[in-house]
Amino acid sequence: MSLQTLGANEIPSCHGGLENLDVEYDYKLDDIEGDLPSDIRGTFFRNGPGRQRIGDEQYGHWFDGDGMLCAFTFDEGKAHFRNRYVRTPKYIEETAAQKILYRGFGTQLPGGLPKNFLKMPANPANTNTIYHGGHLLALNEGGKPWALKPGSLETIGEFTYDGELDASMVFSAHGKVHTKTGDYINFGAGVSGFGLKGPKPCINMYRISPEGKLFKKGQIPMETFPFCHDFALSDQYAIFYLGSIVFGNMLPFILGTKTISDQVMFDESIPMQIVVVDLETLTEVKRFETDPGAIIHFGNAFEEGDEIIIDGMFQDNFEANDTLQDVFNPDGRFGGGWYMRYHLNMATGVLRVEQVSDTESEFPTFNTALAGSRNNVTYTACSVDNGCNSFFNGISRVTFDGDATVVALPPGYYGSEPLFVPSTNAKKEDDGYLMEVVYNGFEHKSELQIYRADDINDQVCSLKLKHHVPHQFHGFYSPEVFAI
Ligand SMILES: [Fe+2]
Repeated sequence: MSLQTLGANEIPSCHGGLENLDVEYDYKLDDIEGDLPSDIRGTFFRNGPGRQRIGDEQYGHWFDGDGMLCAFTFDEGKAHFRNRYVRTPKYIEETAAQKILYRGFGTQLPGGLPKNFLKMPANPANTNTIYHGGHLLALNEGGKPWALKPGSLETIGEFTYDGELDASMVFSAHGKVHTKTGDYINFGAGVSGFGLKGPKPCINMYRISPEGKLFKKGQIPMETFPFCHDFALSDQYAIFYLGSIVFGNMLPFILGTKTISDQVMFDESIPMQIVVVDLETLTEVKRFETDPGAIIHFGNAFEEGDEIIIDGMFQDNFEANDTLQDVFNPDGRFGGGWYMRYHLNMATGVLRVEQVSDTESEFPTFNTALAGSRNNVTYTACSVDNGCNSFFNGISRVTFDGDATVVALPPGYYGSEPLFVPSTNAKKEDDGYLMEVVYNGFEHKSELQIYRADDINDQVCSLKLKHHVPHQFHGFYSPEVFAI
């Protein structure tokens, strides 16, 4: 996109928000519209691909851009911004060479089959972040966590929990903290052994203590390699949705002629399987089946009587993947899903589904202090029709009963995953703020917008950055302020 070519009445597209941010910044946020609340103290971390181009080349998928963490720090009514790339081998070597040197989820090495034969995708550490057990981690489901210093965001290195994650084990970007124990529970697609038909697929599960020790592992056998990006966590259970997005024939990927992304497909003949895993035994205890579809991201889950109640964003296609393979294509559309609620009766085996909100939504978040127990409020990134809807351009606050407040951004502004931040004196669920990084396409700059969590029509302030932040995936809020 060229901002210079925009006419006076043209609305900029979302694509400028995918251009590289190659500079690493560190500065006080003093350009503030509105009043920064004094009852915010902590650090809002975000992760996402900071660049989609290297030299003259473009990555073959949004998921292959290099992970760049941002930290917005709040203390004593002041705010500070810092961004740093994760120093993976891919980042370091490609930065030096200014060309693509690693295969990705949807990126081939230039040079065809001979260059890609038997090459595995690199881990760009670009999807999510967590601070738990004293460790700040950058996460991508295709590899291991990368540890960073939470104050400076300086990369420490690949992280294995003292070798507990062995060479074969990957670690998803959507681990969750179990409220009652403080344990961090995560998973990764894996192999439990080899049989007559070849590798035996499984879901590896990991349970990490509040002190940061990986103390329990389990393997849930699968019939095929699961396409699981996220899972739901209640008090007693981890719940995995094996949906209609599946891996097709992976031989062309192994041989080097196709990417993994090329071979992932939506097969509408495959119903969703819902696998319920007991958190103590780390074994499958029940399985449900429902209509074809897929859940990419989950909201909260909790148990009530015999039921597990699970919020998730339902997709009935995977067309978005085509857009993600060419993020600068002006015709591409970044679609959302539909906010659904699943009631799984563990006694009768009956499953019931209801739609919670009719606004196209993704990236559900909530006050994680209520993870695993009934919450009343979920926030989402929305796609609304404001005449310029090629990316998330709104946020919603949805109550448990489905009462939705939707706030649309002005045309030319593009949003991201909104995250709840409790105020320092919070007493109830939505005492606090909703933070959202917004890309202003007119100025090619981003800002951190802060809304009242109990009334998102009330935007409290906007912290203006000196530059843009490429559209990101996920974030995490810690009430700690970290020393550099
Ligand atoms: Fe995600």
